[in-house]
Amino acid sequence: MKQVYMETFGCQMNVADSDRMELLLFHSGYARTQVAEDADLILVNTCSIREKAEHKVFSLFGSFRPLKEANPDLILGLAGCLAQQEQDRLLRRIPDLDMIIGPDVIEDIGLALDQVLAQKTPVVWTKFDQHKQYSIPELQSIKNQGPSAFVNIIKGCDKLCSFCVVPFTRGREKSREPEEIYQEVRQLVAAGAKEIILLGQNVNAYGKHGLKNPLAFHDLLYGVADLPGVERLRFTTSHPMDFTRDLIRAFRDLGPLMNHLHLPVQSGNNRILEMMRRHHTVEYYVDLIEELKSTVPGVALSTDIIVGFPGETRSEFEDTLNLMERIGYSNSYIFAYSPRPNTPALEFEDNVPDAEKSDRLQATIDLQHRLSRQNGQRFMGKTVEVLVEGRSARQGARFKGRNPEYWMVLFSGEEESLKPGQIVPVQVDEVLGHALKGHAIAQ
Ligand code: 5AD
Ligand code: SF4
Repeated sequence: MKQVYMETFGCQMNVADSDRMELLLFHSGYARTQVAEDADLILVNTCSIREKAEHKVFSLFGSFRPLKEANPDLILGLAGCLAQQEQDRLLRRIPDLDMIIGPDVIEDIGLALDQVLAQKTPVVWTKFDQHKQYSIPELQSIKNQGPSAFVNIIKGCDKLCSFCVVPFTRGREKSREPEEIYQEVRQLVAAGAKEIILLGQNVNAYGKHGLKNPLAFHDLLYGVADLPGVERLRFTTSHPMDFTRDLIRAFRDLGPLMNHLHLPVQSGNNRILEMMRRHHTVEYYVDLIEELKSTVPGVALSTDIIVGFPGETRSEFEDTLNLMERIGYSNSYIFAYSPRPNTPALEFEDNVPDAEKSDRLQATIDLQHRLSRQNGQRFMGKTVEVLVEGRSARQGARFKGRNPEYWMVLFSGEEESLKPGQIVPVQVDEVLGHALKGHAIAQ
């Protein structure tokens, strides 16, 4: 078999796309290697959500140059959102590039590679058909899936937040037929998965476009939770505007649906939320969370935050800190605003100085550390149920896994009896940032 070396940047969606491309490539005769020097094909799956991700890609391709010089048959390929968005610039900046493949057409990777062999000029495979149904055909898997598995349910995004490139790189929302989703889940469970994480840019818009028969997201959750062997169920990522009361009830009623919600808020100030085109106010978001908290006691919350959005004043930024404190997030993904091509926010002047952005970023990270530590205290001395993911060398622990609230738990225990996929009680002895440390309790 030929060999493919892959690197992946960006979100969970990209990680799932890379897994899928690995499988498709395997069926086209490529086995994955961890050594770039051994590769016949190097494929980098890129992200364009922020500018920094781009710089990493350019320097990476710089490091592949000597390999291409030593082996002119080596194929260099770029996939992902950056590839979709910046094809012309990428072809100019990376002269060795043989192939660009967009995130919406990864199923065609075999065809694109055939074309690379047939033509001398670089292959650009990025055109997608917005009317085509979203389907991920079943393929025989090549590796053992771990205990926790991602399943794509929707692609694209219709929300058009003013800062975000996703609607331009991944297109508009399109849902996958529920039967296909259930079938994939059954297959994953048969291969050992215990936890299913439903994946999409905006999962709670599921069912609005692209299905033969409409189905709401919460109905899909009931359907998946009902499948035998699904012990844990999660989803990511969602938008507050599509977050319904039915969904809150699903959290209350569905045993496998875990006690954690990731609900990006981006800002705690109404003027900034409006400029971001999030279509909701701070009050709306807080009401939703309050209702969820009172219906699902102990639910853990995490979010995405952007600091330094164009025109954000210091006091508007402080509104974000106040909101974070009020909600008491257990975790946040915090970003400094980065202007992206094609996005409406480009019209607003990116006028928060870099030093001020870094300062706000640091203040937000510091606050989140404090909130995480405070949040973690509630687990101290308690026994939590952990889905064992595998071995860990961190912090002198032997195993790692997650509790229902999605905290990473590092723990010691009897080597013989603990296997990935088991759900075991662990007593928490220490809180380490956004992780817990403890020991498994003999059953
Ligand atoms: N600048 C900074 N952060 C961004 N995100 C999306 N676009 C940008 C941008 N232009 C963040 C948002 C989103 C997360 C995936 O990335 O917080 O929720
Ligand atoms: Fe981007 Fe907004 Fe869609 Fe999320 S909801 S992918 S931030 S446009």
